[in-house]
Amino acid sequence: MQTTVIPGRTVLCKRKPATSTFYQEVVKGLSAPQKYLDSKYFYDAEGDRLFQQIMQCEEYYLTGCEMEILTSRSAEIAAALAQHASTFDVVELGAGDATKSIHLLRQLLSNGTDFTYFPIDISANVIGQLEQQLPVTLPNLRMKGLNGEYFDMLQQANTYSHKKKVVLFMGANIGNFNSTAAHDFCVELSDYLLPGDLLLTGFDLKKNPQVILRAYNDNAGITRAFNFNLLTRINLELGANFDIKKFEHYPTYDPGTGACKSYLISLEKQQVQIDDVCINFEADEPLYMEISQKYSLEETDQLALATGFQPVARFFDNKKWFVDTLWKRV
Ligand code: AVJ
Repeated sequence: MQTTVIPGRTVLCKRKPATSTFYQEVVKGLSAPQKYLDSKYFYDAEGDRLFQQIMQCEEYYLTGCEMEILTSRSAEIAAALAQHASTFDVVELGAGDATKSIHLLRQLLSNGTDFTYFPIDISANVIGQLEQQLPVTLPNLRMKGLNGEYFDMLQQANTYSHKKKVVLFMGANIGNFNSTAAHDFCVELSDYLLPGDLLLTGFDLKKNPQVILRAYNDNAGITRAFNFNLLTRINLELGANFDIKKFEHYPTYDPGTGACKSYLISLEKQQVQIDDVCINFEADEPLYMEISQKYSLEETDQLALATGFQPVARFFDNKKWFVDTLWKRV
């Protein structure tokens, strides 16, 4: 048996040659000097279910705000799209259950817009449900669900459709990137688009810090369960032995940077086995789970201009807690 000591307190024992990306990314994150997991892995069937519950939490204002924008401003959004693109297809990154975008889709249909809807989601579960349910709700909708990573699927959508693209990236999903990653993401996204393509992005705006922190620390403990579920998923799918009782959920918000971060704190010195990899946790050691970055309006404009887009319109909820920005690929 070969034993390798990796700096950062982790001992790798035997190595399997071929393993899943999930396994590799988990081991990479847990072997880093500052341990982390990628929040994109929150969304297994149980994670999807918990996220649905989060969206119904009184404290989690984001969904309600963006829902208000889509229900009350879809006519304006559709008009803005029509003003900037005569014909287009709609691609949605991280479509989820499409309960927000459905209002825009319905508006486009009733305007007689000729388009196909390509919802993309990392969760096979989510795409399967969408393909079943959306045609029932919107019988005239042409759609093709794409299950996979955003850019792979965006490329696939480009092979199915040569029309101008209207990309929807709603739900403040961009918040799951730190500033550097958001910048790199927008640059890469603009590489998959052509001049004149449009991007509608949901940003959660900076606001009273208590309001933000409460949204990630709900009383019912659903957000905590949502974080712990990733450890359970790693146990189930990768044969690990996380004992979730030995971790504590620690949500934070820094109003200076707008970074809202969640950690799980190891309550004691402990070892966790993942397949044949052994991870050491010190007492009080943090495991970084997720960032939900908050923006000012100036910061959304700066992000657009720095990554090959021109801001063309903004759509707000009444409290101005949330914005959907419309950008045009330059
Ligand atoms: C789906 C990324 C927008 O960051 O607000 C909710 C995920 N995490 N509560 C967010 C989430 C904890 C959510 N996004």
